[in-house]
Amino acid sequence: MAEKLMHAVRYDSYGGGVAGLKHVEVPVPTPGEGEVLLKLEARSLNPVDWKTQKGMLRPLFPRKFPFIPVSDVAGEVVEVGPEVKNFKAGDKVVAYLGPLLGGGLGEYAIAKVSLTVPRPPEVSPAEGAGLVVAGLTAHMALTQSAGVKLDGSGPRKNILITAASGGVGHYAVQLAKLGNTHVTATCGARNLDLVKSLGADEVLDYKTSEGAALKSPSGQKYDAVIHCATGISWSVFEPNLSSKGKVIDITPGPSSMWTFAVKKLTFSKKQLVPLLLAPKGENLDFLVKLVKEGKLKTVIDSKHPLSKAEDAWAKIIDGHATGKIIIEP
Ligand SMILES: NC(=O)c1ccc[n+]([C@@H]2O[C@H](COP(=O)([O-])OP(=O)(O)OC[C@H]3O[C@@H](n4cnc5c(N)ncnc54)[C@H](OP(=O)(O)O)[C@@H]3O)[C@@H](O)[C@H]2O)c1
Repeated sequence: MAEKLMHAVRYDSYGGGVAGLKHVEVPVPTPGEGEVLLKLEARSLNPVDWKTQKGMLRPLFPRKFPFIPVSDVAGEVVEVGPEVKNFKAGDKVVAYLGPLLGGGLGEYAIAKVSLTVPRPPEVSPAEGAGLVVAGLTAHMALTQSAGVKLDGSGPRKNILITAASGGVGHYAVQLAKLGNTHVTATCGARNLDLVKSLGADEVLDYKTSEGAALKSPSGQKYDAVIHCATGISWSVFEPNLSSKGKVIDITPGPSSMWTFAVKKLTFSKKQLVPLLLAPKGENLDFLVKLVKEGKLKTVIDSKHPLSKAEDAWAKIIDGHATGKIIIEP
């Protein structure tokens, strides 16, 4: 029997940006042990998608070309691989495909069941797909690195969230406010009202001198900074931190790795903590349930059809999304 083909968007080498994306017809993949085949209903983009194409993660990812990028998806299970007991054809799910497999810019994609969770009807495919890397990163930074308890039971903490209008930042604001926190946030002028509406107690325009100094208008010193922007030096954070304050840097470059090492070696009470997402299915399930309960929302920057994936790719490269960029069928 002839192989079933699907439409996909892929690239063949490092670099090239939007022009490097190619629309192709490729065979629909077959799920292996512990895997499911999904017909995709939505994908969301992350900065790591264009950074991977640019070669910033080489030699780790991608392992081989051509590569169908994108990790964050929502879809319907159409086939299950051997040994899959907890999903069946027809189930609606949200999944993290990971940087090794990728595959999100195909009509169909293979997902590992360990990083696939049910999507209830109250959560749209776009809302679910938005959650994956951005929501999981915000969750990990707050719960694991900053020690915020999302049931509100922990001690009160002052939190600063930079780039609070972005994918990670807008989830971080909402999740932080589920805990016992005071949240200061930074974003551009056009998003001040949005970030306030997500629950931030005070919001700074990062292009003003007060915003650039990260100074809390009400005089708070931060116990933790969920640092989702880039290009802010330790000397700007340091005077704003409480005595044991931590900066959790989700885009650590050479200078923050240096600060991390120096602070560790000198037993500094104020620390810089580099963070790399370690995705967990149970945390994704928790986030999907929060959306279902109306306690967390996905702000959608824009939606694009797969046939115009280039428009979405140009937007994520641009770095000015408000919330999540979504690609639908
Ligand atoms: N470590 C990990 O595992 C991990 C996981 C996820 C993401 N990341 C990294 O984390 C970073 C953020 O990711 P993201 O998905 O949230 O990005 P994003 O959605 O592309 O962020 C865009 C937003 O950031 C705002 N912004 C940019 N610079 C800012 C600044 N200096 N101060 C305040 N706001 C600023 C922009 O506002 P304007 O449009 O107004 O400028 C825009 O709304 C990226 O570098 C990404 O690669 C790392």
